[in-house]
Amino acid sequence: MLFDFTTLPTRERYKLLVATVVPRPIAWVVTQDEAGVTNAAPFSFFNALSSDPPILGVSIGDSPRGPGDKDTLANIKATGQFVVCLVSERTAHAMNITATDLPPEVDELAEAALTPVPSTKVKPPRIGESPVAFECELFQLVPLGGNILVLGKVLAMHVHDDCVEDAAKNYIDTPKLELIGRMHGRGWYARTAEMIDIPRITLADWAANKGGG
Ligand SMILES: Cc1cc2nc3c(=O)[nH]c(=O)nc-3n(C[C@H](O)[C@H](O)[C@H](O)COP(=O)(O)O)c2cc1C
Repeated sequence: MLFDFTTLPTRERYKLLVATVVPRPIAWVVTQDEAGVTNAAPFSFFNALSSDPPILGVSIGDSPRGPGDKDTLANIKATGQFVVCLVSERTAHAMNITATDLPPEVDELAEAALTPVPSTKVKPPRIGESPVAFECELFQLVPLGGNILVLGKVLAMHVHDDCVEDAAKNYIDTPKLELIGRMHGRGWYARTAEMIDIPRITLADWAANKGGG
């Protein structure tokens, strides 16, 4: 079936995109306003976009309270700093609590009984329960129409000690992170525990085996 994105209304395009571009990693973004009130919220229009410089991208839509920025974006614009935490199975329900549209003066980490741990290079804390956290400074804001793409430069990364396989080689035990990805609809998530290994093919191997060897 063909879906013509040049004629479909915004809501329908959104439904089609989020039902098919799956699983999406989730950025659990911690920010602070200028008074130091901490905010946390999840965003699945998210990915790692570059390693030199190390850039993460998070796309943030309008506030459900009406036209205007979500608290996360307002805080990033005001302070230029944020922390991206990743979401594990163990923290999934707490993440869901922080997606509630709580007023800006409410500390969402306290509301979800999460532990703020001081960052080393930025003011917003990281979420202690998250197995991975990236301390970021604002690199660029890219207006996309209804959304704004926030590009953040990673200044530091934290990984729970038991998920580091070999610190000297920077090897992470990725399955042990037990991260989840966002699927379709409002409440479906995928575990990342089930994997398949597909070794890369060198040009020489491809050329040698193409004949059916
Ligand atoms: C798993 C998940 C992923 C989400 N992804 C996005 C997203 O990519 N962009 C967005 O604008 N909102 C997204 N939301 C909704 C925001 O988390 C929600 O609007 C939140 O209340 C914003 O909080 P804030 O006003 O404190 O920034 C997502 C919600 C969930 C549960």
